[in-house]
Formats: sequence, C-alpha cells, structure tokens
Amino acid sequence: MAAIAVSLATSLTSAVVPSSLTSFVFNKLNSAPCLRFTFSVSRFSSYRGGGKLMAHSLVRATLGLTQPANIDVPKIALSAKEIDVAEWKGDILAVGATEKDMTKDDSKRFENSLLKNLDAKLGGHLSEASSEEDFTGKPGQSLVLRVPGHGAKRIGLIGLGKSATNAYAFRNFGEAIAAAAKNAQSSNVGIVLASSGSTSNESKLNIASAIASGTVLGTYEDNRYKSDSKKPVLKSVDILGFGTGPELDKKLKYAEDVSSAVIFGKELVNSPANVLTPAVLAEEATKIASTYSDVFSATILNAEQCKELKMGSYLGVAAASDNPPHFIHLCYKPPSGPIKAKLALVGKGLTFDSGGYNIKTGPGCSIELMKFDMGGSAAVLGAAKAIGQVKPPGVEVHFIVAACENMISGTGMRPGDILTASNGKTIEVNNTDAEGRLTLADALIYACNQGAEKIIDLATLTGACVVALGPSIAGVFTPSDELANEVFSAAEASGEKLWRMPLEESYWESMKSGVADMVNTGGRPGGAITAALFLKQFVDEKVQWMHIDIAGPVWNEKKRTATGFGIQTLVEWVRQHSS
Ligand code: BES
Ligand code: MN
Ligand code: ZN
Repeated sequence: MAAIAVSLATSLTSAVVPSSLTSFVFNKLNSAPCLRFTFSVSRFSSYRGGGKLMAHSLVRATLGLTQPANIDVPKIALSAKEIDVAEWKGDILAVGATEKDMTKDDSKRFENSLLKNLDAKLGGHLSEASSEEDFTGKPGQSLVLRVPGHGAKRIGLIGLGKSATNAYAFRNFGEAIAAAAKNAQSSNVGIVLASSGSTSNESKLNIASAIASGTVLGTYEDNRYKSDSKKPVLKSVDILGFGTGPELDKKLKYAEDVSSAVIFGKELVNSPANVLTPAVLAEEATKIASTYSDVFSATILNAEQCKELKMGSYLGVAAASDNPPHFIHLCYKPPSGPIKAKLALVGKGLTFDSGGYNIKTGPGCSIELMKFDMGGSAAVLGAAKAIGQVKPPGVEVHFIVAACENMISGTGMRPGDILTASNGKTIEVNNTDAEGRLTLADALIYACNQGAEKIIDLATLTGACVVALGPSIAGVFTPSDELANEVFSAAEASGEKLWRMPLEESYWESMKSGVADMVNTGGRPGGAITAALFLKQFVDEKVQWMHIDIAGPVWNEKKRTATGFGIQTLVEWVRQHSS
C-alpha cells in the first residue's frame, strides 16, 4: 500500500521550522515497511529529556515561562572486579548482609567468613560497632563506619533481611548503597555480598544487574526544575565477588542501558503539563527515532490525519484542548536477521487529565498530580529508548501512544455525547473522566492493524485499581495465560510488582448503553475490571493482549517523584522474545 504524504513540517538542515501543526511522514494503516527518516527540529525554546538538550517547536511560551534546566545525567561507571575485598581501595565498601550473615559466636565475633576477615583487618571494630548499634541485617538498616588507615575510607553494612532472593530486594540494596554514598559524599563504591550462596551463574548475573540498576537509579535526582541543585558525587561502582568476564560486562551494560531509559521515563512523568504537552511528547519520541535511526522509524499523526483514520474516540477526548493531539508510532526493526515475533506496546498518554466536564473535584481526586497520567506512555517510550540501545534481534516492536490532554472548553466533549471509534463501535460517554480508555480504544485498534501478535498496554487507568492494590502494585488483566506467564517472569527478573486481576465477563452488564454499543463507565464496583473489559472490545480476538493498570505505582508519594514503573519489565519481556 502506498504511503500517504502529508506536509513535511520538519527539515533535515534548516533550523527554522514552520509553526503550523506537526507533522512528519504518515504511513497508511497496514502499509508494510515503515518509512525511516531523520531530522532535526528547533524553534522557540528547548526541552531537555533523557539527558540531552531537546529543541522543539510547539511550546506555548507563555505557560509560566518554565523550561527544564539542561543538566546532563551523570554517567556512573559500572565494572565487575575480582579482588580481595579487604584490598579494595575507594570511598565506601558496601557489604550486603542478611540476618543470618550477622550471627555471631560466643565471643561476639562473626561466623560469616567474609565479615570475619574484614573484622580481623579492622581489629574487631566491625563486630563491635554492629553490636553496639544493633545492626542485625534487617532490610532498611545500614551502618557506615569510617575506617581510617585502610584501603576503603568507609565500610557500610547494609541489611538484606532474612534472605535476599529476588530482584526487588537487590534493587533496594542498590538504592540503600546510593543513599549511603550520598550521605558520605562518596565518588566511588565497592559492593559485595557477605554470602553469595550457591546461586547459579544466571541468577548471579541477575543479582549483579539488579544491584547495579538500584545504585544508579537511587543516585539519580531530578533537579531540572530547581533553580539551585546539587550534583550527585558518585562516579563509579565496582561489583566484587561476582566474577568477571564478557557475560557479566554485557549484563552490566544492559543494566546501564535500561537504567538510563528509566531515568528518561521518570523525567517525562515529572515534567509538568505546561512543559510536556502532547507535541513535546511526540518530539521526544521522534528524538528516540533519530538517535537510533538504524532501527527505528517514526510516524506522528496530527488531528487531521487521525480524523482520516476515523479515530473518533481519541479525538473526542482531545477536543477541548488548545494543545493539539499527537498520535505517536515508533516502529523498531532489528538491524539484521529474520523477524520471529511482532509485538506492540501501547501507552496511555494523557499529558494532563482535568476530568473534563466531569471535573476532578473534592479531596483525594489528586487533580494536581494528573501530569502523571501519561505514565503509560513514559513506560512505552522509555522501553523504546532502551530497545534502541540494546537492539535485540528477531523482534519487531511497535510503540504506540495516542497523546492528548483532557480539558474543558466550549469545543470539548459533553457527558452524554456518543463517539465512534475507528473500528466503527459507538460509545456513549457517561463520564468524561474515563478518558484514558477512550484514547486507548483507537490506539489498540491501530496496534492490531500493524499486525502485532501480542499487545501490552500500560495505563494510569483507574483510581479503583489503586484502591484494590495500593500504591506499589500494578493490576494485570489478560485472557491469555501464556502472556501472563511471560510477563510475570519478566517482572520477577526486573523486580516490579504485578498482580493478576480477573476479567469478569458478567460485569460487562454495567457497560451496556440504551443508545450506543456501550457506555464508557460502569459505576464504582469493580471499576478497574470494567475498564479492562472496555479495552477488550477494541482488540482482535486472535491477538494476545494484556492491560496493565499502573495508576498506583506510577508515582512515589513519599519521594514526590515518578518511578519509571513498567520500563524494566517491558524491556525484559521484549528481550525474552528476541533470538
Ligand atoms: N487518570 C485517572 C485514573 C487515576 C486516578 C489515576 C487517580 C491515578 C490516580 C482516570 O482517567 C480516571 O479519571 N478514572 C476514573 C474512572 C471513573 C470515572 C470510572 C477514576 O478512576 O475515578
Ligand atoms: Mn480521568
Ligand atoms: Zn486519566
């Protein structure tokens, strides 16, 4: 099928870009090869994402005059070394110790051989201090001692709990190391486990990678919107006692690639809606495509083009906003070799959700946090960035975001309006605040039309899912046990918490409309389930599909920051499909 050409608003060489609505190159639905292109965009102001300066054209300069500072994310060098820990030289030697590792004999000396050796070198100082300060290896405990006159300036004992067995625990360990390094203003740390146990080679690699990414992510602070910010001091991490070699080096490089993508995802979510508009989100996506132009092509559709594709459900949501919608599609193809699996990742991309006419009012509605309503798209674009770096063979991956804002105006959709999605199905909008599913409907139809065999969507979809699972666990909905197994094993490796929820078909009853094919909300009971059932209406039955509701884990309330949730699991899942 021929590609439809539309106005090419960007130019390869020119710094001046027409200020008209987007748009780049548009592939007609189902067209086989994606068009590949590179370009540069520059006008008005700059937006920084993913560690580099990003120029863009569609920022409304009056929106508070805010721009993120151009701070480069400092690189932390990760290396595996095989040396005696007592000989290691640097700022902090961090030792991960379980409660069992901390058991002591009758003379109050360690039984664990690594701790015993260190303690001997330190003249019994370590065992003494751990007794005095009641360090027992519980998770969250840490004890940092200055040890003048030794190779390491400080020794840190960090609690791993009863037994550290999963990626989640080792990521937390890495974060605790980062906190200790921050406190002591350390620029290099050595990391070792008191007992490495009898773990297999593969799990050793996974543990090293989880510790490394925990340390990198724990060190990172998003200071782009602060007028005065301190730079993290940590520069290098030595992983000790895990062996050395190309396999481990490759795994650490992978951890570094994925961590930088998680930081990118966090920056997207932390950026406020007056900075990160749908246009800016689209530019961030095209920037990924141009950075990794050997494997990516980008297609950005403007409102007019979405209208041609009959995306009435998505456009209904976008209708009230002065910031126009941008439909984002990145296509990843490996540099060479056959393609064995076609996957799609779809993310909810509401750069702001006011609720629309069903405006978010009242305590607990969190309207001021609704910049995070594009957390699904941040996960998808973060995964794209990581995959651009890792370049897994054997898989084609589509990254799809129907980006827009849910606002209020005379042109906005009203409660009671009937929308028609691009598959012809009609929706009576009984609540304008259930907008995410309306945008996802057209995005899922589009993903199916790309020939994807498996689709995962991620969305900050329902408050109901937060009520059910709390702030740190995402809800998983899928009719496919096979896909569930795949994603749960990826989540296990990445240390992200998921819980499978039922797709209870009988609840569809509450989604029936008197005038259209369906309504968009079915009331409070089972709200996360009826939302998932709604999405299911827009997915081909032959496609394996999963919906992940990340409304809880997208945001860390205590730290007042985005989490980058989902990226590590998505990249791991794609990697599992690569050959
Ligand atoms: N973006 C919200 C979901 C949300 C709410 C995420 C709170 C995180 C915290 C979504 O668009 C929404 O408003 N959902 C409604 C659905 C309801 C109208 C059926 C909700 O959950 O209240
Ligand atoms: Mn909403
Ligand atoms: Zn929303």
